[in-house]
Amino acid sequence: MNNPSHKRPTGLNEFYFGAPYYPEHWDKSFVEKDAKLMKEASFNLVRLAEFAWDLMEPSEGNFDFSVFDNAIATLGKEGVQSMLCTPTATPPRWLTIKHPEMLRIDKDGIVQQHGSRQHACHSSKIFREYSKKITKAMAEHYATNPNVVGWQTDNEFFCHFSECHCPNCQVSFRKFLKNKYGTIEELNQRWGTAFWALTYSNFDEIETPKEFKPTYPNPAAMLDYQRFLSHDLVKFQHDQTEILREANSNWWITHNGLFGCIDYRDLCKDLDFLSYDVYPFFAKTRVRMQTNSFNLDRTRAWTGNFMIPEHQSGPGGQPPYFHDNPEPGEVRLYSYNAVARGADSILYFRWRTALFGSEQYWCGILDHDNIPRRRYDEIKQIGKELRIVGKELLGTSVKFDVAIAYADTDVTSSHNIYSLGLPSPYGVAESIHNVLYNKNFEVGCIHPSDDLSDLKVIFIPHWTVFKQEWIENLKEFADNGGIVVVGARTATRNTDNNIIPETIPGIFSELCGITINEYGRQNDNENRPLCLDINLVNVRTDLWYEEMVCNDDKTEVIASWKNRHLKNKSGITFRKADSGNGGFMYVGTYLTPPIITALLPKIQALSGLTNKDLPKGVSQIIRENSDTQYRFVLNSNYDAVNMNEVTGGLDLLSGETKDGAWMLEGNGVCIFKEGK
Ligand code: GAL
Ligand code: ZN
Repeated sequence: MNNPSHKRPTGLNEFYFGAPYYPEHWDKSFVEKDAKLMKEASFNLVRLAEFAWDLMEPSEGNFDFSVFDNAIATLGKEGVQSMLCTPTATPPRWLTIKHPEMLRIDKDGIVQQHGSRQHACHSSKIFREYSKKITKAMAEHYATNPNVVGWQTDNEFFCHFSECHCPNCQVSFRKFLKNKYGTIEELNQRWGTAFWALTYSNFDEIETPKEFKPTYPNPAAMLDYQRFLSHDLVKFQHDQTEILREANSNWWITHNGLFGCIDYRDLCKDLDFLSYDVYPFFAKTRVRMQTNSFNLDRTRAWTGNFMIPEHQSGPGGQPPYFHDNPEPGEVRLYSYNAVARGADSILYFRWRTALFGSEQYWCGILDHDNIPRRRYDEIKQIGKELRIVGKELLGTSVKFDVAIAYADTDVTSSHNIYSLGLPSPYGVAESIHNVLYNKNFEVGCIHPSDDLSDLKVIFIPHWTVFKQEWIENLKEFADNGGIVVVGARTATRNTDNNIIPETIPGIFSELCGITINEYGRQNDNENRPLCLDINLVNVRTDLWYEEMVCNDDKTEVIASWKNRHLKNKSGITFRKADSGNGGFMYVGTYLTPPIITALLPKIQALSGLTNKDLPKGVSQIIRENSDTQYRFVLNSNYDAVNMNEVTGGLDLLSGETKDGAWMLEGNGVCIFKEGK
């Protein structure tokens, strides 16, 4: 996949609808009845085998695919096709006994145990060899099976933790560094090893850095280590995708994210599209609708539209917790929120709730006793609806005009390594998203190097690492009328994760028309509060202040500090672009909800950005192509809402025309199709 873009379609020809299915957990006799029930629910896809290596290769080199062959054929007869997974998240016991040296080692030096999952190291050559063998055996076995249409690599790489410090990783990390720096002198200089006598005389002396062993490691070494984790993971996945593509070039291949330390842009180079697993009920209250919306929007920021191979269908439960049971209509509501925000396919986790194992309370569509109840009926209704509208949505992308910068692993890692106790760019992106979501702006997430042409505003939430090569795109955006809102501390660190020697904000100074004279952390807000005067309203800041100097007469001060030694000093500025009407707003504090809320009228006035007036808890999202728009209207209240003020039309889901004094039921959804 080249040139990832937030607008990129998955390229799927079918809107897939179904569930992860585990025939290995049930008697063979279940499959036939399952297939019939799936057909009745309009399923056209199941996902299989991600944890079934022990079954498919019960002893080394002896393969047995009969359980899946039977399931794939029986389901296929009912029109339900299959996507398979490489089963490498759970290597079998014979392999970990034979090669204990492939087990991951955590930062405390503890060797991970066979007994749950994700215990093998991706840098281990031995593990890579076995991963290739099982992938090849599966790929060859299924290459000509017409019911197998695509693949997922592994399952949620790094979903439990990212690090490994085993001997394989030491070797591979050194190789990675040698390739990157060439000479040890270069590494010493770029890492700044003069600090705390870290100087190395050759690459073999270097170890993977660990936090608090005994204290803070070198930040440049840490960033390279996290890049290395992603780099080796990409290679591990590449082994598999190469084999799969060679076996059958018509298969699509995906992987389900999003977790720490993985550069999904890099990982997706070997994939057709990215996938994301949706579990809104980890949030305990109705705030879950906004969290869910942010998660879907940030997924799209990586490479565009996506698949959902696992969507919550019942309450999730693992030993220490048990989620709320989704109320009637709630799964449907979240499903359409996902589709509205770029899902091109959706599978529900899981078909039937397991009777054993560590996820025996992770409730699926069917309960433990295999009796279809309201959850099945609701999925069936969604299936029926998506059979009509799903396919027509393929090829459309989500419309938004205000964006928050997201989707850069270096930015996130750099922050996590050196946070100063401040919220992460990711956390701030979510806060900005919440404010805009609740005010009914058409908001999305985007990488600053992506196509910004549909936007009016982009927020840069404290990207301390900001690459020179992304600047031109922002400049062009501002020249064309766009407003860039730059949060404090942006561009203050280089890509080695060290501080820039120039006066901050470095590469943003000229565009923003300012330099920072002084900055500080706010640790005692009770006794030493600070306020900014934004449009005659005093807004408290709690985290950070910057005092800026305007360097150019095009720079206008938007807000000044009110107290302490900062009184009357500039805190927020705006500089118009050299050509055109856009420009750069620099905010010398953290982009917290009160600051964003206070600044919005000014941002709107500068950019022409508008929002919708919708009843509380109702949201509206548009998917579109060049001539048609699909307007999703979702009611996230538990009760019906009067939609008097909201434009109706012919609802594709119910087939009814909604207009005049129409009502939308609690958890209700409509899709209106309109010409552009
Ligand atoms: C996902 C994972 C599944 C299952 C599910 C419920 O993150 O991919 O295998 O564990 O969560 O916990
Ligand atoms: Zn390792």
